[in-house]
Amino acid sequence: MASEFQPIGVFDSGYGGLTILKEFLNDLPGYDFIYLGDNARAPYGSRSFEVVYEYTLQAVNKLFEMGCHLVILACNTASAKALRNIQQNDLPLLDPDRRVLGVIRPAVESIGDFTRNGHVGILGTVGTVLSNSYPIELEKWAGGKVVKTSQEACPIWVPLVENNEIDSPGTEYFVAKNLRNLLSADPEIDSIILGCTHYPLLLPVIRKFVPENIQILEQGKLVSAKLVEYLERHPEMDKKCSKSGTVKYYTTENVEVFEKNATTFLGQSIKSEKVLLK
Ligand code: DGL
Repeated sequence: MASEFQPIGVFDSGYGGLTILKEFLNDLPGYDFIYLGDNARAPYGSRSFEVVYEYTLQAVNKLFEMGCHLVILACNTASAKALRNIQQNDLPLLDPDRRVLGVIRPAVESIGDFTRNGHVGILGTVGTVLSNSYPIELEKWAGGKVVKTSQEACPIWVPLVENNEIDSPGTEYFVAKNLRNLLSADPEIDSIILGCTHYPLLLPVIRKFVPENIQILEQGKLVSAKLVEYLERHPEMDKKCSKSGTVKYYTTENVEVFEKNATTFLGQSIKSEKVLLK
């Protein structure tokens, strides 16, 4: 049993989840991971609730089949639109001993360490913003530390990342435009949550248009710290995670393109395999 490959599954619609995986690899060296990017169907951000749920469940099932007992939805859109349904309705039928966790709670629970005046900005996909997950979760889990939450949907940012346009002038135009909208909705904002795992890849551009006194929260480190805590609190799950330091990458799109972009984003070269989700 101990030699069986039982990795922690990390799922995203595309490349964004690599910003989370990078921190996991740092904080949990020796653990086995599978990364699955649904690049063929990305972006998820403007898709309906039903479609995001259906695609995410397919990915979770695939990761379970591949031996994962614990899956992290390293995607805010999937966490906002599919996580609750999967946890409440699907897991009890699929396998009540497996777990699926998301990325919204860790950022929300940490907000008190960043904001001084309680004025928080959220940048996310259309789906995440329309789901109102951040305002709802901040209200519930931020213990009264948030006075006002303003959200801005940035529908163009994920396609720019997925198409490796990070350094193009067009990207600056859209990033500047969305940030202007957010900061004019509430000029008192002192902390901005990057509520999409793709956005840290745009951080150098984002930073150009955000005044220095405003904190920008990236989810990677926060989510990773919570995963470490989770495994400490749940030794029964920790035991089910195999630890041979192996990381496997799967994409639903072209393998060569995925490897080239993932290598840039991760800062290390990787090999991947194609997988079909259905
Ligand atoms: N990276 C994802 C997120 O955190 C999904 C982006 C998308 O596919 O639109 O929301």
